[in-house]
Amino acid sequence: MTVSTLVGTPLTELKSAYDKHGHCPLPYRFTEDSVELLRRRVARISAQVRPEVVHEKDKDTVRAIHGCHEFDDVCRALVSHPVLVELAETLTGGPVYVYQFKVNLKQAREGTAWPWHQDYAFWSEEDGMPRPDAVNFALPLDDVHEENGPLMVIPGSHDLGLFDLPDRSERTSDWRKHVSNDLAYTVSTERAERMFEERGKVPILGGAGSLHAFHPSIVHSSSSNRSADRRALLLITYNAVNNAPANPTRPRFLVGRDTTPVVARDDERLVLETA
Ligand code: SIN
Ligand code: MN
Repeated sequence: MTVSTLVGTPLTELKSAYDKHGHCPLPYRFTEDSVELLRRRVARISAQVRPEVVHEKDKDTVRAIHGCHEFDDVCRALVSHPVLVELAETLTGGPVYVYQFKVNLKQAREGTAWPWHQDYAFWSEEDGMPRPDAVNFALPLDDVHEENGPLMVIPGSHDLGLFDLPDRSERTSDWRKHVSNDLAYTVSTERAERMFEERGKVPILGGAGSLHAFHPSIVHSSSSNRSADRRALLLITYNAVNNAPANPTRPRFLVGRDTTPVVARDDERLVLETA
């Protein structure tokens, strides 16, 4: 399967929307069976005791799982999906490898917020990623609505550089501050408010299985989940192979070390349709 076998928006149009706004919906969705299979794998991994599984402050509720493509065959098949690989290559401009894979679970009533931030702040300052030549694909495994903590983006903010970086002396090397609701690199609320008064803010809503691309430098956040519906969001970051950090030190489940280009491979368990 390739993009050309799916009817939909031409790749050139997706790329210009992505370049202009720093995010764009992708006109495809995974079938319900595919999503259900991913949900089952996420449940299995969440029940394991391993460093890739991160909890909320209560230490009981699973907040996120990381690096699953390294040890779960369905997640591995997902990152190799030919359409995702082709889209990632188009949006970053060349061959890609998997930089990060995570599922932020945002459990019903328990899942807490992600303050305003830019992913590239972490990747540049902590890992030494040379340029923001990477792309995030967001794939909700549950329906996302206004009440269960949707991802919120400020359109066009990807083009303005990095904001509010802490002084080097104030930085911590504790990677837990990169995955908790008390993030090490944030954009101040005042700045985010000024930005969204000017540019607006857009919630990324959509059914389970839908797809959305967003840029490493876009300013984004999401609120706590006060609803009765879980909001699991699977996120894959592909990085351009020629943009790999030279000497990353964070755990490999936060910074992929295998920089060989992903080889696109169909898997009959993961079926994508035109949305
Ligand atoms: C979220 O899961 O809502 C936050 C995702 C992100 O910051 O990339
Ligand atoms: Mn983020």
